[in-house]
Amino acid sequence: MKKIMILNGPNLNALGTRETNIYGSDTLSDIIEYTKKEAAALGAEIEAYQTNCEGEIIDLLYRAREEEFCGVVLNAAAYSHYSIAIRDAIASVKIPCVEVHLSNIYAREEFRHKSVISPVCVGIISGFGKLVYPLGVKVLCEM
Ligand code: DQA
Repeated sequence: MKKIMILNGPNLNALGTRETNIYGSDTLSDIIEYTKKEAAALGAEIEAYQTNCEGEIIDLLYRAREEEFCGVVLNAAAYSHYSIAIRDAIASVKIPCVEVHLSNIYAREEFRHKSVISPVCVGIISGFGKLVYPLGVKVLCEM
């Protein structure tokens, strides 16, 4: 079984009630349950975390390396746009990270068009709602 970490950043705990016109009405646990089912069909096991703290995202990336996860599906949320510390942690751990966003960040405000973590991720999946998570898992399973 491939072990894949799903890591969600700030405000994603509020999915289901937060700007539902943009992020949809599924809660984070709905999305994780859905992703776990899709992952099981691909022979992958998911461990999912959500935190509102930048440093915890960094600690979890190092944990993914220590515990030999084969990759991370990362929605760093707003941190994606400016956290050099998370960017440096991804580069440091050297395990494949797929950057995901529920919304299409390029179709939104200009400050969301730039992601500082994209250059150190294996790729980015953005704009397909909850589908971005199982798509990220599939990418990691096929790598
Ligand atoms: C997001 C997009 C980010 O710009 C935003 O700050 C989020 C969620 C998404 O999943 O679409 O919190 O990462």
